Amino acid sequence: MAKQCQKGLIGPITTQNEKNVAEEIQHSRAILSNDAALTDIRISAETALAHAVVDKTHGFHLPALATLGLNNKPKARHIILRGFAPISRTLYFYTDSRSHKISEIGRTPDVNLTFYDPVRQVQLCISGRATVAKADVAQKAWGGLTPLGRRAYSAISGTGRPLAQPSSALPTHLEGRIPEADEVETGYANFTVLSITYDAFDWLALSREGNRRAQFSWQKADKNWAGGWFVP
Ligand SMILES: Cc1cc2nc3c(=O)[nH]c(=O)nc-3n(C[C@H](O)[C@H](O)[C@H](O)COP(=O)(O)O)c2cc1C
Repeated sequence: MAKQCQKGLIGPITTQNEKNVAEEIQHSRAILSNDAALTDIRISAETALAHAVVDKTHGFHLPALATLGLNNKPKARHIILRGFAPISRTLYFYTDSRSHKISEIGRTPDVNLTFYDPVRQVQLCISGRATVAKADVAQKAWGGLTPLGRRAYSAISGTGRPLAQPSSALPTHLEGRIPEADEVETGYANFTVLSITYDAFDWLALSREGNRRAQFSWQKADKNWAGGWFVP
């Protein structure tokens, strides 16, 4: 099992419970500055990420992932947040190994994730580096998917490829029905877990009383966050 999966990871790729993760977020680190409000914000942001993995209705469940396109132009798309390991600052996503984002990340691993929670009116912009997770992580994640969830990975070619006519690109026998598990097993060859380890984030909270903005960067030498206030 990959190291980052052993501790503090929530989501379908682990059995770790949410309470333990919350405790790790609370106690593992304090902000270097003496500003307690910054520490609270850092904790609330990571706690929200942990909740968003398991709560499909949480605004942070569906961030936009921005990569540098192969044509050197920025590219963003929505992607479902699937797992979170606070100790290693790693977020997990599922995708198709044939998708453009995988080629893009192979060339430029630096990515941005933008989350918005409309209930709390909080935007979180995360900068990090993306890699394809190890096979054992993908295997565990695949085990947690339903046959319907697995079906997308049986498309005849990768996302973003041209088609002669509108189509899901699924084989005809899988179209419009929930497949049996053995019918979508070959899709595993295309299934990939993307892990994004972040080292900086920008938090923006909207409020009638006055907006607030803070930025945080991971201090490798101190193994701690540094934070500061910024003009919203
Ligand atoms: C609500 C929603 C959820 C999505 N979730 C995922 C996801 O979890 N993984 C994924 O690879 N694509 C997901 N997509 C599709 C992506 O936005 C994107 O179209 C696709 O991954 C192809 O991107 P690419 O060609 O740039 O790699 C989702 C789209 C929507 C609208």
